[in-house]
Amino acid sequence: MKTNLLLHIILSTFVLFFVNCKPAENTDSSKTGSQSAKYKPAKLPEAPSEYQKKKNPFEGNEQAIAKGKITFEKKCKKCHGEKGDGKGEKADVLGYKPIAFSEPGYLKTRSDGQLFFIIENGSPDTDMDAYGKGTSTNLDEEKIWEIISYFRKEFTK
Ligand code: HEC
Repeated sequence: MKTNLLLHIILSTFVLFFVNCKPAENTDSSKTGSQSAKYKPAKLPEAPSEYQKKKNPFEGNEQAIAKGKITFEKKCKKCHGEKGDGKGEKADVLGYKPIAFSEPGYLKTRSDGQLFFIIENGSPDTDMDAYGKGTSTNLDEEKIWEIISYFRKEFTK
């Protein structure tokens, strides 16, 4: 009886192990939410509450949007892609998938403060560097809001 139980436990462990190892089917890597096998799951640290309250002072401001576009194309496009689809020229060699902002509905799920926090501080241990003040790119608050204004205009569907 005891041996039977032990055998049962060993067998079910094996079965579970193989079930878990089976590559997930129906993973559509073209979607932002689902990660394709070549990328690690997104880290996206959550912004502290003082960031969540931040509001973009330039939302919808055409001049800010135009400036944000310039910064995006210089500093961000190579990973996030010109259309914000996460398919920039460098995207393929990265361990983490550059977020596809243009995925329908995606940006609506991300607050201004959350986007601001990650642009300023990066996502540690991923390819998303910090771009805020004191970094080599040294984007000040205004520049970060300009980029977010551009995202909201261009990549929100
Ligand atoms: C070297 C490639 C690379 C570059 C260049 C890059 N990013 Fe990213 N970015 C990533 C990756 C990878 C992630 C996902 C990180 C994770 O999984 O936590 C990311 C995540 C983000 C996020 C978080 C999105 C969310 O839903 O919270 C924002 C915002 C962002 N990037 C904006 C920018 C901006 C703005 C620039 C230019 C100033 C930029 N990125 C440049 C690779 C890059």
